[in-house]
Amino acid sequence: MAVIILLGAQWGDEGKGKITDHLTRDAAVVARWNGGDNAGHTVVWRGQTFKFHLLPSGILYEHATCIIGSGVVVNPKTLLGELDNLKAQGLPTARLVISGGAHLIMPYHIALDGASESSRGEKKIGTTKRGIGPTYADKAWRAGIRAVEMLDLDHFAQRVREQAEARNIWLTQVYGQEPLDVPAIVEEYTEYARRLAPMVGDASLVINEAIAAGKTVLCEGAQGTLLDLDHGTYPFVTSSSPIAGGACVGLGFGPKLVDEVIGVAKAYTTRVGAGPMPTELHDAVGDHLVEIGHEYGTTTGRRRRAGWLDLVILRYAARINGLTQFAMTKLDVLTGLDPVRVCVAYEYRGQRLEHFPMDSRVLEECRPIYEDLPGWDADISTTRSLEELPAAARRYVQRVEELTGVPVTMISVGPAREQLIRRRPAH
Ligand code: IMP
Repeated sequence: MAVIILLGAQWGDEGKGKITDHLTRDAAVVARWNGGDNAGHTVVWRGQTFKFHLLPSGILYEHATCIIGSGVVVNPKTLLGELDNLKAQGLPTARLVISGGAHLIMPYHIALDGASESSRGEKKIGTTKRGIGPTYADKAWRAGIRAVEMLDLDHFAQRVREQAEARNIWLTQVYGQEPLDVPAIVEEYTEYARRLAPMVGDASLVINEAIAAGKTVLCEGAQGTLLDLDHGTYPFVTSSSPIAGGACVGLGFGPKLVDEVIGVAKAYTTRVGAGPMPTELHDAVGDHLVEIGHEYGTTTGRRRRAGWLDLVILRYAARINGLTQFAMTKLDVLTGLDPVRVCVAYEYRGQRLEHFPMDSRVLEECRPIYEDLPGWDADISTTRSLEELPAAARRYVQRVEELTGVPVTMISVGPAREQLIRRRPAH
């Protein structure tokens, strides 16, 4: 048995879905602790590609109980859409528990997200416009609607009416937008609540009982370390805690129960949305990474920004999360590039920085200091062990281990499920 936290070590989109999918085979519980339908997890299963925004990737496995924790924000419409979609394909969905403490994303949150982004002009965050920030803001402001409130439909309808009316004042008077149709929202969302209510439960209890019974619990992070509200590149972050500590908060179990913390990192770096990114490339290598790596967002379809692997970031991720392992994804995308470069430190106003800076404005001025490593040409997409990789690819992996102090235990060499090198069991 083990409690495993799996999370993004960069700016999200590291390919966590595939690694989660592998680890779910041994897990009794798969639980999401943060974010909402701003995430996009792609899983290739029995030859079919599934894209989830809200459901834990474990939903495809009949043996796993899936949990949406209190730290997640739930768009009821998206969730029902994903469940209906799976049901239509004959796949079971009965093992989902939505924590009563999870907050609901309402239409006024989505409207406020869009209005607030437009009002920022040049200073846009580049959000996914899914209402994530305003929903967490309402949570912190103690005005949010929680999943547990769906268990009493009269009470729920009343709360939705009050909140929608209150947020209409912001929309019209602060942002000059048209008001939302409150009775229509109350009717639509009360129906969603009626459908979702049977899935609402005490997620913390389910998880802690599973741990006590010696089962394996896999905590599946969304987004990535640098998008963390406290430790990311603020203000260009999301509004939740994608870091390891967030798993305990968002699911309701104690930190001493955690056995492994796996950071998923691409073999290079990408970012969507605004904000500094020291290794970003605007040249043919950048185009190679985007096109060969299919770097377009699962949720918004936006082209991702791409650049060389930044080891200052990975060292930071190792520290903030207490990583015990890395899973490196998309190593195959580097095939054909020579040299391959890794950023080992930054130069900031003539000084060498070894540590990731706290201030995004400092990061904006940081220039990468690279170490060049030899590239490789051979197709590595069919390799299944480290020994089969070309010496240069092995050297690349080894250098990441040396410069971060964290072992790389899994290496993904293509999108398909079996295109994975596992150097040892996860726990
Ligand atoms: P929000 O989470 O929609 O508020 O967006 C805030 C920032 O997080 C933006 O830069 C988004 O592009 C980024 N973001 C949110 N979710 C993801 C994700 O799943 N992958 C990568 N970036 C994300």
